[in-house]
Amino acid sequence: MKISPSILSIKEDRKLRIALMDKQDIDYIHLDIMDGKFVMNKTQGFKEDYEEVSDLKKPLDIHIMVEDIKKYVDNYALLKPRNITFHYEATKDPDSIIEYIRNKGIKVGMAINPNTSIDSIGPYLNDIDIVLVMSVEPGKGGQKFIDSAQEKIDELRLLKNAYKYNYEIEVDGGINDQTVLKCLNADIIVVGSYITNTHDYKHQIDIIKEKIDSY
Ligand code: DX5
Ligand code: ZN
Repeated sequence: MKISPSILSIKEDRKLRIALMDKQDIDYIHLDIMDGKFVMNKTQGFKEDYEEVSDLKKPLDIHIMVEDIKKYVDNYALLKPRNITFHYEATKDPDSIIEYIRNKGIKVGMAINPNTSIDSIGPYLNDIDIVLVMSVEPGKGGQKFIDSAQEKIDELRLLKNAYKYNYEIEVDGGINDQTVLKCLNADIIVVGSYITNTHDYKHQIDIIKEKIDSY
């Protein structure tokens, strides 16, 4: 299982702390982008994000919680991320967004809110690289894991095996050393405040890894 730490909840010494995260034994860096419309909160602008993450070594896993998806894709594509993940709920035309991201040579992720079923994204499962299961309401870090995410992860695993889909299953929100056990069928976990609310990133990451490895 791959680990993609979210840097959203890092408050002090961001540049330094993000550089420290980049040095850890992790797979990706998860960058959360909020527009104050699709979700209530708004993150700093593209220029500020660019300054913080453009010279990182780890591939970027970008999660856009925005309404004007194509505008953000145009900007954030400049960071040459591994993937850009948009919200199914934020567009009337997911097919055109999938094509838009794919045409930039970037992997396509589709995120679903806790109240969105796997059935509703059925038509897209063959065309996307990642399904991001939100295990909290999008909008802020530090929330409690919503248990029903586990059923979705397990269902996505069954569908993937049965129909030979290529997507990776990613889970985002409220993951810690306990709730990670509900995500064992995922391919990628996003872990935010469990790591970044402490100063010893390595220690927290090691605990999560040990937990995963013991199952
Ligand atoms: C929530 C974000 C998450 C969040 C994860 O809207 O998409 O990536 O930062 O943080 P924790 O692990 O604190 O829930
Ligand atoms: Zn996220």
